[in-house]
Amino acid sequence: MNRVDGKVAIVSGGARGIGGESARRLAEHGAKVIIGDVLDAEGTATATAIRDAGGEATFVHLDVTKAAAWENAVALAVKNYGGVDILLNNAGAYITKPILETTQEDFALLVAVNLEGVFLGTKICAPEMIRRAQTAAVGSAIVNISSVAGLVGSRNSPVYSMTKGGVRLFTKSTALEFAKRRVRCNSVHPGLIDTPMGNLAMTRAGTGNNEMRELFAKSHPIGRIGEPRDIAAAVVFLSSDDAAFITGAEFAVDGGVTAQ
Ligand SMILES: NC(=O)c1ccc[n+]([C@@H]2O[C@H](COP(=O)([O-])OP(=O)(O)OC[C@H]3O[C@@H](n4cnc5c(N)ncnc54)[C@H](O)[C@@H]3O)[C@@H](O)[C@H]2O)c1
Repeated sequence: MNRVDGKVAIVSGGARGIGGESARRLAEHGAKVIIGDVLDAEGTATATAIRDAGGEATFVHLDVTKAAAWENAVALAVKNYGGVDILLNNAGAYITKPILETTQEDFALLVAVNLEGVFLGTKICAPEMIRRAQTAAVGSAIVNISSVAGLVGSRNSPVYSMTKGGVRLFTKSTALEFAKRRVRCNSVHPGLIDTPMGNLAMTRAGTGNNEMRELFAKSHPIGRIGEPRDIAAAVVFLSSDDAAFITGAEFAVDGGVTAQ
């Protein structure tokens, strides 16, 4: 039996990148997936590709900063698939500017998507996840995508780092609040991953793209930057019943960056 077989997952920011790959992996392992994103065309294409490969997926327009959009996503999960067992809070915004150049608008955007989005997703999905958990073998699971910048400070992206540090501790508080109600919650802290956001980080940090890739690869002790599948594998594990005794934990999936 697959580890998330028959479970229902909501993946925020699931149109592409880490969220897209996590949605594919969860579906491959037997989960039914609601893909929520502001990118309608890419999200619809990702859901269609999952269905074409024999999986179950539905796209819904979801702006994580809007409570009504989360309520709509939960209602769709209940209507189409019977409930919610897994929430992947993955949608994220990234701005790389030093403190002295960061505007209040930059700050507000990062806080809205990276912090308020995770708070709203958790608050609005939790009642349905708790309900489902009471009759499940193990229970429900929330996985929050933070960053290595949520474990250590960031020279280039200080406010991004501030929000991701918030996600790290909110994960632990969520784990404590819901532990007895059979909902686990853990955070994943990716190193540099080859996605549109990862590429933005590399181009902002330097000039020539190939040169920058080499430099970033060298900064990861394993000798390469990460792929979305590296993060998706951790997401599937933490979402699954194999992780039944893991809650409030932080998982660096970073090729050894934060081991230094
Ligand atoms: N790529 C990296 O190097 C890296 C490293 C550490 C952490 N992360 C984190 O991983 C997560 C996924 O990032 P990614 O690299 O796949 O980036 P990405 O830009 O490829 O994907 C992010 C997704 O989130 C969606 N999104 C943005 N704002 C949204 C909103 N308001 N509502 C709903 N969806 C929204 C985007 O449309 C996009 O589909 C983010 O939380 C990011 O901070 C990425």
